[in-house]
Amino acid sequence: MTEPYGMDPTYRQRTVELLQSQLSNLIDLALMGKQAHWNLRGPEFRAIHLQLDEIVADLRLHSDEVAERILTLGDPADGRAGTVSAQSSLPAFPEGYLPALGAAKELADRMDLAVRKMRGAIGQLGELDPISEDLAIGISASVEKHQWMLRALTEK
Ligand SMILES: [Fe+2]
Repeated sequence: MTEPYGMDPTYRQRTVELLQSQLSNLIDLALMGKQAHWNLRGPEFRAIHLQLDEIVADLRLHSDEVAERILTLGDPADGRAGTVSAQSSLPAFPEGYLPALGAAKELADRMDLAVRKMRGAIGQLGELDPISEDLAIGISASVEKHQWMLRALTEK
């Protein structure tokens, strides 16, 4: 197949690699969001339990957008559990029950790390593929907003 959209093959390959690593982080974050959603406890349970499902819904949407951008660029996406586990740059979420505000902080910290990685990718994508850059900017804005709303629970 010829390179799609007249892209330089090296640029296309590097773009796909950057998107694939963002995909693993986004899937990992969505799994952590559910882990927190289930296991939090305490008086803030209901509000944060519901808030986490809103976050997970957006993270799943964003992982779908990134995966489909990879396909649009002509490569398969890899969202398998083993790949996510190997590629994610985020520390594992704590196991077991968590106080609700503690769970919010654990997820907010990992969202911050994921955004740092995403912003690093955005810096490179600007050169490589502005369409993927645009997608990553929109996703980063969404994750940053959710991160703020979690952070606001625990910071004074
Ligand atoms: Fe649920």
